[in-house]
This record gives sequence, C-alpha cells and structure tokens, in this order.
Amino acid sequence: MTQIVTDTLKILSESDKEACETARITANEPISNKKRLFIESYGCQMNFSDSEIVASVMKEAGFATTSDVNDADLIFLNTCAIRDNAEQKVRIRLQHLNAIKRRKPGLLIGVLGCMAERLKTKLLEEEKMVDIVTGPDAYRDLPRLVEEAETGQKAVNVFLSREETYADISPIRLNSNGITAMISIMRGCDNMCSFCVVPYTRGRERSRDPESIVAEARQLFDQGYREVTLLGQNVDSYKWTAENGSEKDNSVNFAQLLERVALVHPDLRVRFSTSHPKDITDQVLYTIKRYDNICNYIHLPAQSGNSRVLELMNRTYDRAWYLERIDRIRAILGEDCGISHDMIAGFCSETEAEHQDSLSLMEYVKFDFGYMFVYSERPGTPAAKKYKDDIDPETKQRRLTEIISVQRRLSLERNQRAIGKVHRVLIEGTSKKSAEQFSGRNDQNKVIVFPKENYQVGTYVNVLVTECTSATLKGHAV
Ligand code: SAH
Ligand code: SF4
Ligand code: F3S
Repeated sequence: MTQIVTDTLKILSESDKEACETARITANEPISNKKRLFIESYGCQMNFSDSEIVASVMKEAGFATTSDVNDADLIFLNTCAIRDNAEQKVRIRLQHLNAIKRRKPGLLIGVLGCMAERLKTKLLEEEKMVDIVTGPDAYRDLPRLVEEAETGQKAVNVFLSREETYADISPIRLNSNGITAMISIMRGCDNMCSFCVVPYTRGRERSRDPESIVAEARQLFDQGYREVTLLGQNVDSYKWTAENGSEKDNSVNFAQLLERVALVHPDLRVRFSTSHPKDITDQVLYTIKRYDNICNYIHLPAQSGNSRVLELMNRTYDRAWYLERIDRIRAILGEDCGISHDMIAGFCSETEAEHQDSLSLMEYVKFDFGYMFVYSERPGTPAAKKYKDDIDPETKQRRLTEIISVQRRLSLERNQRAIGKVHRVLIEGTSKKSAEQFSGRNDQNKVIVFPKENYQVGTYVNVLVTECTSATLKGHAV
C-alpha cells in the first residue's frame, strides 16, 4: 500500500501537494535478529522502482526491512530533485530523523537518488546527520558504503555509469498489492529539456536487455501479478542491440519490446511510462492496437502548448507536432484511448497569450488526467544558465490554478463518457474510502470502484459504470 507521510505533507502548500511527490516506505518483515532497514522514497516511479533494487541489494547484505522508522538501524531516503519543493521536503524530513538519531547514536542515515547525485558531498556539509550519499547508479556499492559508515566515516559514491541497468538484480517488491508491478526498462535520459535536472542526476540513457525484462514479467505473472508498467524517462527511445550483432538483425525497439512483454500472457496487462512526443511512433500505436492486453493509455507530457516556449524548453517538437501525434493516437486507437500529460506553468518569459496556448492545447486534446506544476528553476540546468526565471510567483501560481481548473473540467467530461458503458477492470484491492468496495482500473487507467460481492483481488471483472467524479468512476459488476 502507498503510504503518505502526513506530518511532512501538512506543512506543504496546495501546489506542493499537486506535485505528487508523496513518500513511500518499506514494508515490515517479520521480526528477526537482522539489522533493520527503513527506506522512504520520493519522486517518480523510477525512484520507487529503484528502492526495490536497493531493498534487494541490502537483503543480500543481511538487512531486513521495517516500516517503523523508530525501529531502524539504517535509514535510506531515496530522494527527488525535480523541483525545489521536492528537495525541501527531504530537508525537513532529515531534521525529523536527526531527532531520532540523537536518541539512537548508532543509527545511520543515507541519502540516495537524484538529490544525492545533484548535491554530492555538498549534502554532507549541509546536513551533518547524513552518513551516506549514494547516486542512482551506485546501489550495488551500498553494502560497502554502509560498512564504511559503520566505522564512523562518511561514505560517498555518486559515480554515474554508462552501462548499469541492474538487469540481474531481482527487485524486492515494496508497497506491493501483489497485482501490479513496475519494471524498469531503461535508465537515464539523453534529452536536454532546458528546465530538467534528470540528465544530470541520472546520467546517460541506456536500455536494459530485453530477455531480462521479459523474464521479469513472466516471473511476476507466475507469482500472481496481473499488470506490469514498463518504466523509463523516454520509453520510446528504448533500443537494445545484441553485442557483436548488426543493428538490423539484433536490435529491439520499444514497439518490439512491448509486443514481447504482451506475449507473456493475455491476462497480463502491460502499461508504460513515459512516452515522448518527439519519439512515439505509429509502430508503437499499432502494437498497442494489436494486443488487447496492452492498455489504451498514453502519458504524453506536453509541458507547454506554445511553440516558442517549447523551443526555449528544448523539447524538440512544436505545438503542431504534438497535435499531429494526438491526431494519430485518436486515428489509430480511437476517441476512448486515455491520454494524460504534464504541464509547466510560468516557464521563463512565458507571456499571457502563450499561457493561453497551453490551455487551448488542453481543450483540443481533452486530456483524461494531468500532472501540473509551476516552473521551478534548477541550478546548473540550461534554463538556469541561459534564461531569467522572470515570472513572479503569484502569476505562476495563478496560471497553474487555471491549468488545474481546466484539467478538472476535462477529466470530468472524459469520465462522463464512460457512464453507461461496461469496462473490464483489474481488481487491485479494497477501496480506500469504503471497506465494502473494490478498487481497480480500466484499460484507460481510470480508477473504478464497485461493490465487492464475491469477486477476488487480482481477477478481471466487467463493471457497468453508473456515475463519476472528476477523479473516479463508480458502478457495479455485471
Ligand atoms: N521524462 C519525462 C518527465 C520526467 S520529470 C518527460 O520527459 O516527460 C516529470 C515532470 O516534471 C516533467 O514532465 C515536467 O512536467 C516536470 N518538471 C521537470 N522539471 C521541472 C522544473 N524544473 N520545474 C517544474 N516542473 C518540472
Ligand atoms: Fe527531463 Fe526531458 Fe529527459 Fe524528461 S525527456 S527526463 S523532461 S530531460
Ligand atoms: Fe525526481 Fe529523479 Fe524521478 S529527480 S522525478 S526522482 S528521476
């Protein structure tokens, strides 16, 4: 189950909460005489997926996970650096942990992930209670780093690799419902969106061996999982070429990988994130169409609806290109295909008219869902070096509010289309709001709740949708 650290969230503003950088913590393993590890993860799905690699590495080194921070001998915060508020949240959390550490002197604290990579040893200078700093490509080294820290030294490894994919490490599923799981198919990013810190925190793009991806999907299916999400910063640029092989005969692109995973079993749903407008191909769209178990849902971040701003952002597509991709999605996959987006409000020099272009793009596409943010300047990025962060905070916030309110209306409109239709739902668990209801998702990634009756978690059920809000569909099994 996803858990939210409410005490850190309380102090955040509404816009921070919108950023959905909620924390997830490790599960409790049965009491043992092993040393106890507590992992708290922030940021994107890639980070949550990495925490499962970390748990696996540390289990090999003799640690057991705990869900109680007070019980831990070792605490890892797997951090995000995407916006300033993501980092502030970690800083505040570190203050809390410091209080625990004062009561428990042997306790070790490690900062992992993107903030660790961004700040490197500076983090040790700024946060005295931190013992270990580890970047996203150095998790195999964690047992050694912990040993080093146990001798009282500070331990750091922020080396970024060109090869590391952790392909051979079997992740320990954390916060798992036993039904849906993430599979990391690539790491890093070679795009240089001017606002974005990811290329600096996660390094060069590299794709994971397709055999190991398919094997992981098959193993998950055999364990009872019924949905996998293939993860990468830009899944459409997935490319793997066999060693010594010529590109033509031996390379696998994203569409081909999708197909291979879909072939694992017709009852295994396949999702993927994130698609990039410049790279998503018709071949990918036709592959989605060909396999019923590849979900009709595409997360296609726009970032802006204005071509000048997109150019400043170095997104390498313009408004017309983005809309052409949307038209292709609709032409190949139909009006019902779920489409979501990311949007940034108040990027450097964005005018009122350019902001209106973002709103009109949203109206054109009729997005089902969106992740929407105010621009947050990240030190060292091309935008920070080249452009002035000149939109005042009130204007940014107002533009974001407008974007969010358009999205709410569009989400409601799109959900209303689902009313009166029967949807195939994979049951994921009991609804958070009612013990008598199950919650699951349809093909388009929409959450549907319905009375449990005698249905079972992990099975598919046809649900007639009878009502909705902008966030949820409601109905009953038929
Ligand atoms: N690889 C994905 C997104 C990764 S980051 C892609 O290219 O779409 C997730 C989202 O955070 C981005 O899509 C963007 O909307 C947002 N984001 C990234 N950097 C940001 C910044 N400096 N300020 C505000 N939002 C940002
Ligand atoms: Fe960042 Fe752009 Fe890469 Fe996404 S594609 S991770 S926004 S640089
Ligand atoms: Fe954050 Fe790193 Fe993901 S910066 S969004 S955790 S790739």
